[in-house]
Amino acid sequence: MSIIDERLEEIRIVPVVKIERAEDAKGLAGALVRGGIPCAEVTFRTDAAAQSIRLMSEAYPEMLVGAGTVLKTGQVDAAIEAGAEFIVSPGLNPKIVRYCQEKGIPVYPGVATASEIEQALELGLSVVKFFPAEVNGGVKAIKALSGPYIQLRFMPTGGISPRNLQDYLRQKNVLACGGSWIAPTDKIESGCFAEITGLAREAAAMVAAVRGSRAV
Ligand code: 3PG
Repeated sequence: MSIIDERLEEIRIVPVVKIERAEDAKGLAGALVRGGIPCAEVTFRTDAAAQSIRLMSEAYPEMLVGAGTVLKTGQVDAAIEAGAEFIVSPGLNPKIVRYCQEKGIPVYPGVATASEIEQALELGLSVVKFFPAEVNGGVKAIKALSGPYIQLRFMPTGGISPRNLQDYLRQKNVLACGGSWIAPTDKIESGCFAEITGLAREAAAMVAAVRGSRAV
């Protein structure tokens, strides 16, 4: 496992965020850190993504900040330049994966089928995003895929919420879960950072409860 895999396994939750105004980035990062989830996948769905990554990592160096929705090699460059520590893509694009590998940044491309998993293995990956998780069979699919692909770990994302989070976290082959429920776009835009801290705390408590029940 890479150091970033290990950090993701420790935090176990990856808030997927869409930031329209870079000036919201610092407040959001603080809200997540205070809530006990010092991590964010900042999606390249807005022009503010790179600057937001930069501001978050500068203000909270202890935070694990990555780039999401990375579809082009230019976005990989922009993410690295801004200080991103990992790259996430919704699908498996071998060109993006190889580019990240050349640049030495961990990449978690999305997969949804056995064939895509085999492509990921061929590219030397040991952790992939499972996306969109719920509509592709959720926990049941992850359990089934653990049969043939014993070593592979997943980062399920898409349709995860407090309702099903712990089911995913209990799976041995789930490294961490991603999702937008902790920092929804409307709460970021309206500056409801205290609410985001509350949602992060709730998720952190769920992670701790699963960890505790595993240890006994
Ligand atoms: C993503 O892009 O990874 C998803 O939009 C996150 O899915 P969610 O909104 O269902 O959590």
